[in-house]
Amino acid sequence: MDNETVNTGAADKKKRIFSGVQPSGNITLGNYLGAIKNWVALQDEYECIYAMMDMHTITVRQTPAELRKRTLELLALYIACGIDPEKCILFIQSQNSAHAELGWVLDCYTYMGELQRMTQFKDKSARHADNINAGLFTYPVLMAADILLYQTDYVPVGIDQMQHIEICRDIAQRFNALYGNVFTIPEGLLVKSGAKIMSLQEPTKKMSKSDPNPKAFISMMDDFGSIAKKIKSAVTDSEGVIEYRPEDDTKAGINNLISIMAAVTGKKPEEIVSEYSGQGYGTFKSDVAEAVVEAVRPIRGEYDRIIKDKEYLRGVYRNGAETAHRIADRTLKKVYKKVGFVID
Ligand code: TYM
Repeated sequence: MDNETVNTGAADKKKRIFSGVQPSGNITLGNYLGAIKNWVALQDEYECIYAMMDMHTITVRQTPAELRKRTLELLALYIACGIDPEKCILFIQSQNSAHAELGWVLDCYTYMGELQRMTQFKDKSARHADNINAGLFTYPVLMAADILLYQTDYVPVGIDQMQHIEICRDIAQRFNALYGNVFTIPEGLLVKSGAKIMSLQEPTKKMSKSDPNPKAFISMMDDFGSIAKKIKSAVTDSEGVIEYRPEDDTKAGINNLISIMAAVTGKKPEEIVSEYSGQGYGTFKSDVAEAVVEAVRPIRGEYDRIIKDKEYLRGVYRNGAETAHRIADRTLKKVYKKVGFVID
């Protein structure tokens, strides 16, 4: 894909991809294996737009200077993971006002009952009982706006975001039913292995960057010694048998380590199981630790180099915002016209 095609968007017949990560904390191995790694694989075949979702991040209180810093760090990490700014559009959500604008319109086409059913809202309002703000409630509507603005075909995410993709589809279908074919109906895209990486300490819970226990998650910024140590001390079971039984919660710890190994090596879980048949958890954990460290090592090398080059990063996100705005504005104008706003 050449630059010109990406920049105009119009002549390009490739299907379009949109996705993003919140710069809300340590980017985890779960974010990488469930989403970012897949984005890299998709960038040659599709027209890809990836953003740093800072507007979603303020639904939970943030320290402003840290949010700004983490947004740039996330961009550097995207690039370090292999996302090529020459092939993809990379931008900061808050630098494209169309997201908030479409978000408002879509708020008026989304029902309270639908939003009340969202599991992320229920989880986050339980965790932040002192700050159950309206933004947290309408979060999925802003996410729908993110996706629909770009006439997105596919949204590569982890399993935890699939409910948000579903509501996005419902909102788009409702809008289209009223006004004609305004939005492309997007589909979620999951990786085969790694779409739900679990906590290393409570393996029936997903690995989360907001987990208060740092041993439960691997940050892409952890030093290699800590990564190895966290994997070696991952909670498993007392059965001592390396078997992949995704439906069996008593095997959740081992299932998770097998999924991680499968995601970093590209092997199937069954291959890994037969490779380690008859071996103990100790050996397996050491090998998983080594494989993860070797996957993270080159990313970290690149990251350390890119994060120093603030001018380069600025060029990438400014350029990205301009292109993103141009594409998004076409959809926004169409929507404004449909709902009856004066647009000329
Ligand atoms: P966020 O920032 O929580 O996570 C970013 C991506 O990482 C995936 N992910 C995981 N995958 C596997 N295992 C895990 N343990 C794990 N934890 C997280 C998430 O599924 C996601 O793909 N609401 C989104 C951000 C967003 C967005 C969007 C995404 C805002 N607008 C539009 C796609 C399209 C979120 O909070 O992701």
